Amino acid sequence: MSLSTDRPDIIHHLPPDHLGRSLRADVRAGLSASPKTLPPKWFYDKLGSELFERITGLPEYYPTRAEREVLELYAAEMAAASPAQTLIELGSGSSRKTPLLLNALRAEGSLRRYVAVDVSDSALLEARNELAPAFPGLELQAVAADFETQLHLLPRAGRRMVAFLGGTIGNFEPVARARFLSNVRELLGADGGSLLLGTDLVKSPHVLVPAYADAEGVTADFNRNVLRVLNSELGADFDVMAFEHVAVWMPQEEWIEMRLRASRPMLVRLPGVDMDVRFHEGEELRTEISAKFRLEGVVEEIEAAGFSAIGQWTDRQNRYAMTLAEAI
Ligand code: SAH
Ligand code: AVI
Repeated sequence: MSLSTDRPDIIHHLPPDHLGRSLRADVRAGLSASPKTLPPKWFYDKLGSELFERITGLPEYYPTRAEREVLELYAAEMAAASPAQTLIELGSGSSRKTPLLLNALRAEGSLRRYVAVDVSDSALLEARNELAPAFPGLELQAVAADFETQLHLLPRAGRRMVAFLGGTIGNFEPVARARFLSNVRELLGADGGSLLLGTDLVKSPHVLVPAYADAEGVTADFNRNVLRVLNSELGADFDVMAFEHVAVWMPQEEWIEMRLRASRPMLVRLPGVDMDVRFHEGEELRTEISAKFRLEGVVEEIEAAGFSAIGQWTDRQNRYAMTLAEAI
C-alpha cells in the first residue's frame, strides 16, 4: 500500500491520497450495502502482503505450488511462443515465480525489461531487491499502480507480454473481470503482444475449502487484516477478533467466498468516513471472491476481450491452468 511518493526505487502512479480517497469511497459504498462487502485490494498493507506470502507456503494452499510447477514444466514453451522484450506483471507481489519466466524469456534472447506492478510498496521493494542481483543487465521497473484503473499508464513500447499470475483474476467479479481483460487488450494496442494468465480450476470443495480455511489460521488472520487496515487508516474501532473467518464454496457461481462473521452485535465507529456501522450477531461481511475456472471458459473469456489463445498448460494434477493468448 502506498502512502509516500518519495521512494526513488518505485515509479508512483497511485495518487498521493489514493489510500485515503479510494479506501474511503470503497468503505462508504461497501459498508452501506446489503450484504456488506469490502474489495480485496485492501488486504495488502505490509502485514497483509506478508500474510499472503505465508499462505502460499501452507500445505492446504496448492495454487502457488501448482502454478510454479506449470512454469517449471512449460515456461520455455511459453517464451518460445511469445518472445517478449518487456514482461509486465500485474499484481506481482513478491515476484517469487517470475524468475522462471524471466529465465525462459532471456534464453529466447528477447528480454530487455521487467515491469512489476502492484499496489503494495513493500512487496515491490522486496521483489526488486531479490531480482536485481539475480538479473544483471535486465532493466527493472517497480510500478505502484492500481491494475483496475491505471493500466493506461504502463509502458507501451516494444513487444510485451502481460502476465497475471496467482489466480488473481479470480478475485474480480465477472463484470469487472471482462472489463479488466479488455483494458489489458487496450494496453497492448496495435503493436500486438501477449497475455499470460494463471487461473485456478474448479475442483472438489473438499480441496478448495481447506485452501481458504487452513488449520493454522493464517488465512483467517489475512482475512481479518482488512479490518486492521480500516482501524489504522480510518481510525475505526473494529474489534478484529470478534469477527470469525468464513470460507464457503458457492457451487452456482463456482467461486469461494471469504467472509467475516460478527460473533456478537456490534456498533463500529469509522471516523475517517464519518460512519457508524451496525452489525447484528451472525452478520457476514464479504471480503473476497476467488473464482475457479474451466479450461474452455478461460479461452472464451480471453477471446471475448480480443485475444486468440495460443497455448494452455496445467500442472500434473490438473488443478491449475496457465493460458497464453496473443492480442489480435
Ligand atoms: N502474483 C503473486 C501475488 C498474488 S497476491 C503471486 O502469484 O503469488 C495479489 C497481489 O495483487 C498482491 O500483491 C496485491 O498487493 C496485488 N493487488 C491487489 N489488488 C490490486 C490492484 N487493484 N492493483 C494492483 N495490485 C493489486
Ligand atoms: C491473490 N489471490 C489469488 C488469492 C486467492 O487465492 O484468491 C488471495 C487469497 N485469499 C485467501 N487466500 C489467498
